[in-house]
Amino acid sequence: SDRTLVDTPPMGWNSWNTFYCDIDAGLIKDTADAMVENGMKEVGYEYICIDDCWMASERDVNGNLQPDPETFPNGIDAVADYVHKRGLKLGIYQSAGTTTCEGLPGSLGYEEKDAQSFADWGVDYLKYDNCGEHYGLSAIERYTRMHKALEATDRDILLSICEWGDNDPWMWAPEAGGNLWRTTGDIKPLWSAKENLWGNGIIDIIDQNEPLAEYAGPGHWNDPDMLVVGVDLPEYPNLTEAEDRTHFGMWAMMAAPLIAGNDIRNMSEETRNILTNYELIEINQDPAGNQAIRIQRTTGQDGLSRSVWAKKLANGDRAVGLLNRSDRRTTITTSAQEVGLDEASCYVARNLWNGTNWQTAGLIGATALSS
Ligand code: DGJ
Repeated sequence: SDRTLVDTPPMGWNSWNTFYCDIDAGLIKDTADAMVENGMKEVGYEYICIDDCWMASERDVNGNLQPDPETFPNGIDAVADYVHKRGLKLGIYQSAGTTTCEGLPGSLGYEEKDAQSFADWGVDYLKYDNCGEHYGLSAIERYTRMHKALEATDRDILLSICEWGDNDPWMWAPEAGGNLWRTTGDIKPLWSAKENLWGNGIIDIIDQNEPLAEYAGPGHWNDPDMLVVGVDLPEYPNLTEAEDRTHFGMWAMMAAPLIAGNDIRNMSEETRNILTNYELIEINQDPAGNQAIRIQRTTGQDGLSRSVWAKKLANGDRAVGLLNRSDRRTTITTSAQEVGLDEASCYVARNLWNGTNWQTAGLIGATALSS
């Protein structure tokens, strides 16, 4: 695909984290309308992505994929038209195996046919999962096949590689045509894996994504999974507002794709404010494409760490993240030198959650972010 389309991390929405298989054309269209009306489009959100469960359980007599006739009765092309008319782009989902994770027909062995269907329908983004049988074929081989099939169409379609970091995709994904690749298992609206609930919490994911900074850059991104800001699931405790801010702030710092996973048709003002924090989005979308590095970590008496993160921005500023893993108020200290700036100068540090500036003296040069 055209890498300039992802010069900065992709931004959008995906159906999975809130709706799982309970999706239909109405939800996708209403979500596109909401993205235009609630200010998300204005700050850069662009892709409306349909995850698993959009398909009929069988291919048609010619071997083509078909949308579920009940939930997408007018086809994916009608949904794509609707989304495009609103200035947005459409994402879809498939799997590099015999089935999707929900048991629907997978693309292995049908790559060319399916890529052509996606192109014909007007799809702009493919999330390509790793469920089903693989017939002994390596991940790199299966993902490369789909990349080639997409390239053979006359449409630019982003390729999002979703094999959960199992085969070190950061080592081969850019070559296999991946624009982004998952680095972890599935995220859940949890602070950290606890209470015997399935899935990774925010903190677990940050730990797994942290060592991979060198692999991220314009056109090819580490994907620590979609956002759970404002996701409300009956079986999980909700994240608090402070936890949601930490999550969003760290995804901005890590140059992660910002793919909202909540119901954006109907969200609280707090959630909307987090998702549309423009200065944080600018940090995420900084053209240098650097993923933040952890530059300090100390462990408190409670055994939980406090850490400092720095992301070098294109204009030479530093975005600085202060991550407090404990529930307590804490003091975290850093310096211009530690975040990579010239010690002899003076700086303005700006808190991107409340817009407060602290000036150490005359010269403006730094940006600070605290969560
Ligand atoms: C596993 C992926 O990691 C999830 O994000 C989601 O796409 C599901 N599969 C869908 O079955």
